[in-house]
Parts: sequence; C-alpha cells; structure tokens
Amino acid sequence: MSMDAARTSKALGGLHVECYGEVTSTQDAARALRVQPPYLVCASEQSAGKGRLGRCWRSDRGGLYFTLVLQRPEQDWAVPLVSAYALWKGLSSKVLSLEMKWPNDLYVEEKKLAGVMVEGWDARLGAGVGLNVNQLSFEGDLASSAVSLRMLAGAEFDLEVLLISIVSGMLKAMDELSNHGFRFFQPALRRVLLEADQPVKVIRDNRTYTGRLLDLGPSGEALVQSAGGELFTVPAQHLLEAR
Ligand code: BTN
Repeated sequence: MSMDAARTSKALGGLHVECYGEVTSTQDAARALRVQPPYLVCASEQSAGKGRLGRCWRSDRGGLYFTLVLQRPEQDWAVPLVSAYALWKGLSSKVLSLEMKWPNDLYVEEKKLAGVMVEGWDARLGAGVGLNVNQLSFEGDLASSAVSLRMLAGAEFDLEVLLISIVSGMLKAMDELSNHGFRFFQPALRRVLLEADQPVKVIRDNRTYTGRLLDLGPSGEALVQSAGGELFTVPAQHLLEAR
C-alpha cells in the first residue's frame, strides 16, 4: 500500500501530513511549507536526498523517507539522540541485533538500516528519517554497507503502517523530552548506546581525538576514552561521529 496523507493524518490524531510521490528532499519540502508545527512530510522517492555532513542519501522507491517538523524544545541538542532512540524502540521488536550508533544511526551487523538528520530553521526543527524498508538489494558502495528490513526479515513491509507507528513513537518521545527533559531518556539511551561499540571524535585544544563512548550522564555529559587512553568529559552535543 502506498502512503496516503488523509489516512496517515487520521491515524496520527489529525497531524498535518503531506505525502509526495517524488521530491528533491523532504527536508526542503518541509521547510517550504507554511504550516504550524508539528507536521509531517513524506515521499516515496527523493531525487536529492540529504545525509549528515553533506553526504547524500540514496532514496529509491521502497524506502521510507520523511521529515517530522517540531517546535524547537528547550533541550534541542537532544532531539537527534531522542529521535534515533524512538526509531530504535519502534524497530527493535522487528529486527534482531539492532544497534544505535552515535549520534543517530541504526545498524544491524555493521550495515546501516536507518539514519536521522536534524536541521533547524526559525523556531523549528526538522527531524529527517531515512529507513531502508523494502529494497531487495543495494548497488555500488551501499552493496556492502546498507541493509533493509526486507533483506533482514525476508518479507515485505507496509510503508504506511510503519510510518504511522514510527511517527507516533517520535511524537510521544518529543512530548516526553519537552515535559521531562533529557534526564527522562538517559537510562534507556545509556543502555542502548553502550550495548554497541561507539566510535566518536572529540575536539580539544584544536586537536581531534578519536575514541569510544564509555558513559552518558543524566545532563548529557559524555565520558570518552581516546585511542591514546586519555579520558574526556564533554557535553553530548560536542561529541562528533567517527564514521
Ligand atoms: C544520515 O544518516 O546521514 C541521515 C540520513 C537522513 C535521510 C533522511 S530521508 C528523509 C529526509 N530527507 C532528506 O533529504 N534526508 C532525510
């Protein structure tokens, strides 16, 4: 079943939803909309899907591509982590060995299943999610580095059902973040993140250190051990990804 805006909106309690066949990027389509947040923009394909750090996100038919736009919460730095955690929580019952990697990617056995990017404009944040769902294979570089739910489960998934359950989990998580703060998520995030190897980078005194995340505290303080053995405590928002 392809995604239908009216059905999806109804299932999400009347959330404003726009579903497109093809867009350049749901991030750009979401920015162009003059609607009060929260709202959702999804597309079956993207011709210029964006990833973090200027990378591109291959967005052929079969994947799930959406941007959920929110009013910027007080602890906006936590939105990427909390969005990825909500995605992890929604999918962990469907996928064995699902790992969350700093700051907001989902991997299964070192192959990427999903990525999140968060962009801000005005007083808004657009949490963009790309999830590999019904692709049967990937070409080029992605052949060895990406995986889809269908490749893992051997069955096709209904994109609309998946979209509704993931977005409803993200909306709930964003309410919890606004009402209770990062502290509410810290125990679960700490457990999920520390279950996987977490390569990260820290910049100190103009030097870049690569290392591993050892701990994450209730105010978002991250304890990192560099490859050379030095220990650093840095605010989570200053911790860079190492992939
Ligand atoms: C990453 O892992 O680098 C983040 C990938 C985010 C991809 C999604 S797909 C929907 C939304 N629109 C985009 O152009 N990018 C995000």
